[in-house]
Amino acid sequence: MVEKKKGVKIAIVGVGLVGASAAFAIMISGMASQLVLVDVNKDKAEGEAMDLGDAAAFIKPINVMYGTYADCQGADIVVFTAGANQKPGETRLDLVQKNIAILKESLPQLLKYCSESIILMVSNPVDVLTYAALKISGLPASQVFGSGTVLDTSRFKAELAEYCQVDPRNVHAYIVGEHGDSEVALWSTATVAGIDIEQYCQQRGLAPIDRQLVAERVRTAAYEIIKRKGATYYAVALSIKRICEAILRNENSILTVSGLVNNLYGIEHCCLSLPTIVNGTGRSKVIALPMTVREEEALRNSAQVLKEIIKQVGF
Ligand code: NAI
Ligand code: 2OP
Repeated sequence: MVEKKKGVKIAIVGVGLVGASAAFAIMISGMASQLVLVDVNKDKAEGEAMDLGDAAAFIKPINVMYGTYADCQGADIVVFTAGANQKPGETRLDLVQKNIAILKESLPQLLKYCSESIILMVSNPVDVLTYAALKISGLPASQVFGSGTVLDTSRFKAELAEYCQVDPRNVHAYIVGEHGDSEVALWSTATVAGIDIEQYCQQRGLAPIDRQLVAERVRTAAYEIIKRKGATYYAVALSIKRICEAILRNENSILTVSGLVNNLYGIEHCCLSLPTIVNGTGRSKVIALPMTVREEEALRNSAQVLKEIIKQVGF
C-alpha cells in the first residue's frame, strides 16, 4: 500500500528577522502542517517556535518546532535565510564572503537529510548564493533556486499602481536580473488591463511615467528601509510565502525567481531572475520575454556583474 503523505512540512534555516517573519507568514497562511526552525542560535529558534506556537488557537493546526538539520528530513521546502544582513551603506554584494562561508558550512549538513527537498535560497547576495548552492549540492536547477527579484517586482508593481491609480494586482511588470543594484526594469512589457502602461496612463489622463524615478525608487527601496529601521523583512516574508504557495499548490505561477540561466539572451552559467513558471516541480520553465535592445544589454550587464562575484568566490 502506498504510504499516505502526512501534510506539508517546511523548514526554515536561519530564524532571524527574515526567517521568523517568513515563518509567521507561512504559519498564518495555513499552507503547512509542520514548520521546523533551525538556527545556530538555538535559543532564538526555540523562542521563535514558542512565540509562534502560542497562536495555536487562532490558526489552522500546525506543529511549529525548533530543531536540527536532521529534523528537516522530509521537508517539502527548505527556506534558507541564514546569514548576515546589510548594515546601512552596505550593498548586498558586500555580504558575499560571510554568507558564502555560512552556506559552505551549513548546506552539506542540511543535504544529508534534505536532498529531496526544494531549496529556496533567500540570503544575500541571493543570486550568487543560489549559484553556489547549486554547485555545492549538485541538485537540479529546478530544485535549488532563489527568491530573486520577486520582492523587487512587487515593489515595482506597487510604485506603478500608485502612479496609475490602480490595484497593484492589475499591473503586469517585471524586474529581472540581479536582486540588487544592477537589476533591470522591463518597461517594454509593462501592462495594465492588457494594454501598454503608457497607453493606460494616457487613457486615464495621467502624466507619462517618470521611468528613471520609478526604477530608482525600486532599486533603492531596501537601502531606504535599512537606513530607517535596520533591515527589511515583512515584504520578503510574503514573497517567500508566495513562492512556497506556488510550489505546494502546483500553481504554474509566473514569478521572477532566480535560477540557472544558460544560453538565454547571450547569458551562460549564471543565476539571475527572469519570469519563470513555478509549480510542484519547483522552478519549472523560464519565459523568454521579448526585450528591447537596451533591456537585453542591461540584463547582460547584470549577468556580468554577478559572474564576476561568482568567480571571485571560487565557483
Ligand atoms: P538576521 O541577522 O536577523 O538573521 C540571520 C540569522 O541567521 C541569525 O538568526 C543567525 O543566527 C542565523 N545564522 C547564521 N549562521 C547560521 C548557520 N550556519 N546556520 C543557521 N543559522 C545561521 O538577518 P535577516 O535580516 O533575517 O537576513 C537574513 C538574510 O536574508 C540576509 O542575508 C539578508 O540580506 C537576506 N535578505 C534577503 C532578501 C531577499 O529578497 N532575497 C530580503 C531581505 C533580506
Ligand atoms: C531587500 O531587497 C535587503 O535584499 C533585501 O529588501
